[in-house]
Amino acid sequence: MTRALGYPTVLRDGPVLLRPYKRSDAQDWSQVRIRNQPWLAPWEATPIGPWAQMNSPASFRLVYKGLKEAAKIGEAMPFAICLVEDGRERFVGHINLGNIVRRAFASAYCGYWIDSRVAGQGIMPTALALVVDHAFSSGGLHRVEVNIRPENKASRRVAEKLGLREEAYHPHYMFIDGAWRDHIGYGVTIEDVLADGGLVRRWHRLRAA
Ligand SMILES: CC(C)(COP(=O)(O)OP(=O)(O)OC[C@H]1O[C@@H](n2cnc3c(N)ncnc32)[C@H](O)[C@@H]1OP(=O)(O)O)[C@@H](O)C(=O)NCCC(=O)NCCS
Repeated sequence: MTRALGYPTVLRDGPVLLRPYKRSDAQDWSQVRIRNQPWLAPWEATPIGPWAQMNSPASFRLVYKGLKEAAKIGEAMPFAICLVEDGRERFVGHINLGNIVRRAFASAYCGYWIDSRVAGQGIMPTALALVVDHAFSSGGLHRVEVNIRPENKASRRVAEKLGLREEAYHPHYMFIDGAWRDHIGYGVTIEDVLADGGLVRRWHRLRAA
């Protein structure tokens, strides 16, 4: 198998574990996604069919295949977000570096979501910091971008708490939840986190302050 730069790999900070998806994640992924429909749908690409069908275990197999293929050719680094409790992993969300463009751009877009049952514990800032540091250290990337709807206060807080730079306002940027939605672009480059020794370290420092 071809091993793409920086992937597959496992990343961890405390109880937050990021690992490549497994075929056996189908049931957990489907259950979390179906239970969280009202929580996730406003922020996601409009599904091409009914939510339950698009998030069934059978659909996971297609998602899994697509992510695996993109990862294999170095265009994505998808991770299942798990919480480790009493030595056991619990699947709680998703984070992906996608649309990876290499050479002079060396950049990626990051997308993420988490189970509403574990929201508000700082899991996503931790996951995003882990992914960004990995992208810059082993992934061969120089820049990561996150695009967020202005209405998505929780996600904007994730970017703000990590100190990502607000760079752009993109009108009618992506087809989300049934319409072309405006997005705010946040970015971070290697230079931005050098002084802090990485984004995880910055996050630990800011969280403790
Ligand atoms: C955005 C999201 C990933 C944040 O993850 P998280 O792990 O909860 O992140 P945090 O713990 O740092 O919380 C971020 C903000 O969410 C809000 N929040 C906290 N607890 C919450 C809860 N129980 N329910 C809803 N929002 C909550 C707070 O505004 C918090 O900011 P604060 O720390 O300044 O108070 C999560 O809310 C989510 O998955 N939302 C639905 C999908 C989505 O929006 N994806 C991103 C698309 S760009």
